[in-house]
Amino acid sequence: MSELMTQLQETTAYIQSKVKTTAKVGIVLGSGLGNLAEVIKVEYAIPYTEIPHFPVSTVKGHGGKLLFGELGGTKVVVMSGRFHFYEGYEPAQVVFPVRVMKLLGIETLLLSNAAGGVNPNYKVGDLMILKDHISFFTINPLMGKNEEALGTRFPDMSEPYNQGLIDKAMAIAKANDIQIHQGVYTAVTGPTFETHAEYRLVKIVGSDVVGMSTVQETIAAVHCGMKVFAVSVVTDMGIREENNVITHEEVLQAAKAAEPKLTLLFTELAKLV
Ligand code: HPA
Repeated sequence: MSELMTQLQETTAYIQSKVKTTAKVGIVLGSGLGNLAEVIKVEYAIPYTEIPHFPVSTVKGHGGKLLFGELGGTKVVVMSGRFHFYEGYEPAQVVFPVRVMKLLGIETLLLSNAAGGVNPNYKVGDLMILKDHISFFTINPLMGKNEEALGTRFPDMSEPYNQGLIDKAMAIAKANDIQIHQGVYTAVTGPTFETHAEYRLVKIVGSDVVGMSTVQETIAAVHCGMKVFAVSVVTDMGIREENNVITHEEVLQAAKAAEPKLTLLFTELAKLV
């Protein structure tokens, strides 16, 4: 067996030795979006530091725990805090927890993130469902020897974000009066926010938002056959030309303000998958 599969199995076995419930829905909470964890009836919480082979998150606003419990009556596994490429992890480390979720039996992955808007019709605090993504400004996590036990060498990416889940989420948003966009997320490495010219570039290539996460996780999840749904919270507008200083604090604050909408969306969607 490959080293990766051995590690994945050791991690999964460790978690299963601690946790006696199973779930089909996995959730990854983005920057400043950790409060969804507070409405979860937590049965088990395992700090990342205790999980074999898990990297440890270093960013402010990231809790760093794997939670098992119920969200609105649905069993879920939640990553409260994720791993980013800009923290110095290899892409394979960034997506390691996603693959662990797969081995734990997760079939549907719900991802959230904070992102900078480049679509002029968007404003701070808006939600955007990812309809598609552009991964070319970051590193593909499937580079290197393919792990056949997980998926194929050349995975199809014609529908990275499951259309059935998008339709359900749109219906939930409509029923609850939540205004929501659908658009394209472009992944960059970070950790710098973009320059004016870079925001213009990502807009020109067809993006609606830009962010430093999510896409590597989506690619790994699609590779191993999971259904993916992802939402961005627009935490800043990258295309403002003047006085456009963006701070991490501003991003966290905007994310916090949008959290109730996101929590509702994920709670209702988890019931329907
Ligand atoms: N750019 C990249 N990543 C981000 C941004 C941004 O403007 N806002 C939040 N995450």
